Amino acid sequence: MEPVLEAEGLVKRFGDREALRGVSLSVAPGELVGVIGPNGAGKTTLLSILAGSQRPDEGEVSRSPGEVGWVPQQAALYGKLTVEENLRLFARLEKCPDVGAAVDGMLEQTQLGDRRHSPVAELSGGNRQRVNIAIGLLPDPPVLLLDEPSTALDPRQRERLWEFILALSKGGTAVIYSTHNVAEAERYASQLAVLADGERLFSGSPAELEQTVGTSDLDFEEAFVRFLHDQGH
Ligand SMILES: Nc1ncnc2c1ncn2[C@@H]1O[C@H](COP(=O)(O)OP(=O)(O)O)[C@@H](O)[C@H]1O
Ligand SMILES: [Mg+2]
Repeated sequence: MEPVLEAEGLVKRFGDREALRGVSLSVAPGELVGVIGPNGAGKTTLLSILAGSQRPDEGEVSRSPGEVGWVPQQAALYGKLTVEENLRLFARLEKCPDVGAAVDGMLEQTQLGDRRHSPVAELSGGNRQRVNIAIGLLPDPPVLLLDEPSTALDPRQRERLWEFILALSKGGTAVIYSTHNVAEAERYASQLAVLADGERLFSGSPAELEQTVGTSDLDFEEAFVRFLHDQGH
């Protein structure tokens, strides 16, 4: 299958600090890619470059920004505006050809119809995250990027988020997400991108990462920590 998104040799420098040192990635339609690694590894930098919201110093991304949905960790929602008003605003900014239809479609897809007239500031964390995702999906992108989507959610909200993401993936949308929750990446990634210190240390499935570590008596999180340690991190 043709990849839906490819990145080759991405390098990003902030002063003399290298946040990414030659990271490559290839993503198939409908694939779920988990980006994991310690704080400061370069996860957010990678996602924002794939989204086109930052430029790499070196390397290339195969898609133009308009073709990639982007859900940053801190979304710029307007708390005093309702769910529907926020979606309308972003649909206009996205230059959706039919703003009303795009908004109705998103309200239905994210099951936010009954909250459409609620100010965003009054929503639960889970519902606010849905609005963020709805905005990322407005351009109807073949690939959606989510930066730590589950971090602020309780377990029930988290489960609903994953149901939603799995449905997107079944429908053919590729989803690339970062997470601190290694167990989540084990469950919901067909491909892992393990980053540490700006380098991609591993590509493959969670099962392949465990095989690389080579001991069967570790759970996935322990195997992951062992892997980083073996790689000098
Ligand atoms: N705008 C910026 N200016 C300077 N340094 C930055 C900036 N954004 C990220 N960095 C640095 O780049 C590295 C990677 O950051 P980030 O991509 O946010 O990591 P992660 O999301 O994995 O925690 C860190 O050392 C961070 O301090
Ligand atoms: Mg980050």
